[in-house]
Amino acid sequence: MSHDANQPGSVTTPAEQKASRETITSVRRWTEHLFTFRSTRPEGYRFTPGQYARLGLPEGDGMIWRAYSLTSDPAQQELEYYGIVVPGGAFTTQLKNMEAGAPIWIEKQSFGFMTADRFSDGETLWMLSTGTGIGPYLSILRDAAVWDQFRKLVLVHCVRHAAELSYEEEIRNLQAAPPTAAQHPGRLQLIQCTTRESGENATAGGRLQGRITTLIESGELERKAGLPLVPETARVMLCGNPEMIAETRRILHQRGMKPCRRATPGQFLTENYW
Ligand SMILES: Cc1cc2nc3c(=O)[nH]c(=O)nc-3n(C[C@H](O)[C@H](O)[C@H](O)COP(=O)(O)OP(=O)(O)OC[C@H]3O[C@@H](n4cnc5c(N)ncnc54)[C@H](O)[C@@H]3O)c2cc1C
Ligand SMILES: NC(=O)c1ccc[n+]([C@@H]2O[C@H](COP(=O)([O-])OP(=O)(O)OC[C@H]3O[C@@H](n4cnc5c(N)ncnc54)[C@H](OP(=O)(O)O)[C@@H]3O)[C@@H](O)[C@H]2O)c1
Repeated sequence: MSHDANQPGSVTTPAEQKASRETITSVRRWTEHLFTFRSTRPEGYRFTPGQYARLGLPEGDGMIWRAYSLTSDPAQQELEYYGIVVPGGAFTTQLKNMEAGAPIWIEKQSFGFMTADRFSDGETLWMLSTGTGIGPYLSILRDAAVWDQFRKLVLVHCVRHAAELSYEEEIRNLQAAPPTAAQHPGRLQLIQCTTRESGENATAGGRLQGRITTLIESGELERKAGLPLVPETARVMLCGNPEMIAETRRILHQRGMKPCRRATPGQFLTENYW
């Protein structure tokens, strides 16, 4: 079976027919395990910030497919993704060695429902993430729409170690120069949290120490933001570790918040990474 989904006459699986063969254009390594990569964009590819792509790589006689959040501004010519290398993981063991010029397959459709336009109201958008779960928020913040939709934006990034707090410089740049004409100083707050640092390193640069769930329950996250996490004003997105999402959902339910459903407006949206 051929892996080249775009070559006439090749034998392809249904998933390959739905995909486009693209090229990796750059790789940036943040740590041994974390990297950002970009690819060419399939012709006519459309997505809304917050959505994800399905990426494919050849494996044996077939293909292996995995979901990757798009981190790029939808107006950007290339597509960007932020990934972690999972030890022994079938997809990332291959992906980690790839350099610019390597082929990658991208399904022509984009996926996912964690998009800001699902919220019909609200004043503050809380974007809560663990690890690579920060990815969709980068796309959301690089686009002007969310800045015009919410008065306040709070991005929370929780990782094990401070070295995994990727994209900080770019987020600071977005704080200084948002992609919208409506300039309001302090619209976007970045709250970084670590869970496995100790001593001064745990709280350096105003970072919080502890899991998102613990920081919400103790009230520390709201104190840090200076904003309440209440159904009247807060809209919440949760992305990353599924246990974090399950536990945070429970806390939000206790506070009177409900998930957004197709027919009924709610206060939170989620994206589980595994
Ligand atoms: C909707 C969606 C969006 C996703 N977006 C991203 C993304 O933007 N970046 C990204 O790196 N991954 C993302 N993932 C996960 C990704 O699809 C793969 O699971 C991941 O790349 C590992 O693939 P693998 O074959 O190497 O290991 P798998 O066999 O797929 O995973 C093995 C185990 O690794 C752990 N794991 C998987 N992904 C992660 C992760 N991101 N962070 C920490 N632990 C993880 C889990 O314990 C999982 O059970 C997303 C998943 C979903 C469902
Ligand atoms: N991060 C690394 O240093 C590293 C290095 C090599 C390989 N990996 C591999 O990468 C994967 C893990 O990656 P990751 O560290 O990005 O993801 P992760 O394990 O989901 O951890 C990211 C953050 O989420 C927090 N968290 C985990 N469970 C939670 C819960 N139930 N509620 C609230 N918060 C929770 C973690 O806190 P806790 O610290 O308290 O769990 C951590 O701060 C694993 O496959 C691992 O083997 C990671």
